[in-house]
Amino acid sequence: MATDTAPAPLRVLVLGGAMRAGSTNARLASLVARLIAETGADVHLARMRDFSMPLYDGDAEDAEGPPPGALALRDRLEWCDAFVISSPEYNASVPGVLKNAIDWVSRIRPQPFKTKNALLVSASPSLVGGNRGLWTLRVPLEHLGTRVYPDMFSLARAYEAFAEDGRLANPETQQRLADTVTAFVHFVEADVRYVCLQRRWYEFLGDHTGALVTQRAES
Ligand code: FNR
Repeated sequence: MATDTAPAPLRVLVLGGAMRAGSTNARLASLVARLIAETGADVHLARMRDFSMPLYDGDAEDAEGPPPGALALRDRLEWCDAFVISSPEYNASVPGVLKNAIDWVSRIRPQPFKTKNALLVSASPSLVGGNRGLWTLRVPLEHLGTRVYPDMFSLARAYEAFAEDGRLANPETQQRLADTVTAFVHFVEADVRYVCLQRRWYEFLGDHTGALVTQRAES
């Protein structure tokens, strides 16, 4: 039977992947959050500082379980349909703080990354904008079952790239970011409203808990 009830807004977590107060990735995350909110989605903007946690230690996990920061990040991931990470590149790779958080959260069951879509963006003062770090960030996320959007966005010369209103000073770059973000939101919308792809996520080969099919549209 047809119904004219509007679907619930998408819920998107946008995470700035750096700790420092003046982070250009926090600024990029804030801009992405604004663009996503303009599509009508509910957005939660966060940064790594909100989820501070010790270095992963299997003994600490056995004794006390995941730390509060990891549980808080898990709660935020459970809340959202999709997440965006704006991450710096450290030595052409994922910053340790971010990888540590992924490692802690990956230990929690149900493992929250496996049902999510993600968009990766980066900002760096370099000419490649931290893009190499995003390729390495894909690896743990895809390993955990996150569907990482094929397109990424990397902001080069990030220290000079922002205008006073928080948008990007170069209109073409701003448009490219907006196009990438909008296309991602449309993709997530399709995946949440309709079953685009069902798949099984296995923790390891021979893991029979994978018999529980991950339903990509559960609302
Ligand atoms: C960096 N930086 C950096 N930049 C880059 O483009 N490629 C790289 O490989 C690295 N490596 C690197 C390692 C470490 C340990 C630090 C602290 C920094 C520079 C980095 O992009 C710059 O500090 C950014 O400003 C970090 O992002 P936020 O803090 O502005 O978000």
